Amino acid sequence: MENNKNEVLLRVEHLSQHFGKLKAVNDVSFDIKKGEVFGLVGESGCGKTTTGRSIIRIYDITGGSIYFKDQRICAGTLEYKEAIDNIKKETKDAIKALEQEIAENPELKSDKEALIKAKKEECDRVIAENRKLIKEAKFDHKNSDKEYSKNCVKEVEAKFAKLFEEAKNNPEETALLKKKYKDELRVAKNTKLVTNIQMIFQDSIAALNPRMTVREIIAEGLVINGIKDKEYIDEKVYEILELVGLVREHAGRYPHEFSGGQRQRIGIARSVIMNPDLLIADEPISALDVSIQAQIINLMNELRERLGLTILFIAHDLSVVKYFSDRIGVMYYGNMVELAETDELFAHPLHPYTRSLLSAIPLPDPHAEKKRTRIVYNALAEHDYSVDKPSMREILPGHFVYCNDAEEANYKKELGL
Ligand SMILES: Nc1ncnc2c1ncn2[C@@H]1O[C@H](COP(=O)(O)OP(=O)(O)OP(=O)(O)O)[C@@H](O)[C@H]1O
Ligand SMILES: [Mg+2]
Repeated sequence: MENNKNEVLLRVEHLSQHFGKLKAVNDVSFDIKKGEVFGLVGESGCGKTTTGRSIIRIYDITGGSIYFKDQRICAGTLEYKEAIDNIKKETKDAIKALEQEIAENPELKSDKEALIKAKKEECDRVIAENRKLIKEAKFDHKNSDKEYSKNCVKEVEAKFAKLFEEAKNNPEETALLKKKYKDELRVAKNTKLVTNIQMIFQDSIAALNPRMTVREIIAEGLVINGIKDKEYIDEKVYEILELVGLVREHAGRYPHEFSGGQRQRIGIARSVIMNPDLLIADEPISALDVSIQAQIINLMNELRERLGLTILFIAHDLSVVKYFSDRIGVMYYGNMVELAETDELFAHPLHPYTRSLLSAIPLPDPHAEKKRTRIVYNALAEHDYSVDKPSMREILPGHFVYCNDAEEANYKKELGL
């Protein structure tokens, strides 16, 4: 496929993930373009990991939809259930009011009864429509793997239809193609979404199984996917080890024989061996020594270029994502509060929470560092959302801030718009 710079690989729409009363992620939307590194930042507990885990379908998400390569792979039902509850309540209130009018003015009875009937019909229509959407969401969520592999099969079929056509006067070439076609078709039929979206887990360094050799750890995904050819597996493991800056001799050793940085390389190797399109890296360097952090960032940058990876990079401070991300989304308590291209976010941070995160970054210049003051963000003192309600607004092209009308006007004034 032609590499279109603006091709969206992952689209998260109104994602909500609630755990009982706790809204760990609440109505979060963003998309990630092919080849892009998207940084997701925010303090501990704001919902970054939950967002990542929702994308790889660890949860039945509460609300919203997630699309991968234009296919809906996760779907919640919150918004449809809310729509049903709302229309029921609205209809009930409206009918009550109409009945009251009839009681007061009996001569209006027939007119008002017609209105009541219309209200009931409208309510039934909305309920039926949303029940259908709930059913579709459940279907998409449950069948996304099957549908995904169907799409992969279609892609292979289209690709080979063209190749067969080109080789139609060449029997030798056609025979060769037939074999290739069979192989690729088998792979496509077995393709699972989970192998195309890989996640490096937050605690992955600690989580490497101490009883497994590095070879076994790295090859696990291949084995789970039904690959049995030992020679192929070994070759692949060696290739990946070298790719992540380790050596093939490491394959027979155990995790405890490695440093933190090396273990993280093993974790990365284990994710990229599946040749994923999207890599979700959940704080891949936060457990590492500062001196090692840059090495791992460099490695990820290298892999991104060599393997054409798209990365969702999760971190809790902005300094880490600054040099690595094309765009950054800032989360606060389950909500996305600001989203912009990296340079734009650093040049014009608008949301007070983003400003507070920026003020936490130590400055390289000692004079400036001495004068640096930390801005503390206090949501309650900062915003009055009692009447003027907030939503995500595009203040500059591609620069979104969660704010209300009054704040939007202020931000625009600050920017001289
Ligand atoms: N499985 C779960 N069940 C119940 N609550 C959960 C679950 N997973 C996360 N939470 C809660 O959801 C909120 C968001 O957690 P999450 O792990 O997504 O935060 P985070 O931004 O990744 O934080 P950190 O920077 O500490 O990793 C927290 O309040 C957390 O306690
Ligand atoms: Mg986390």
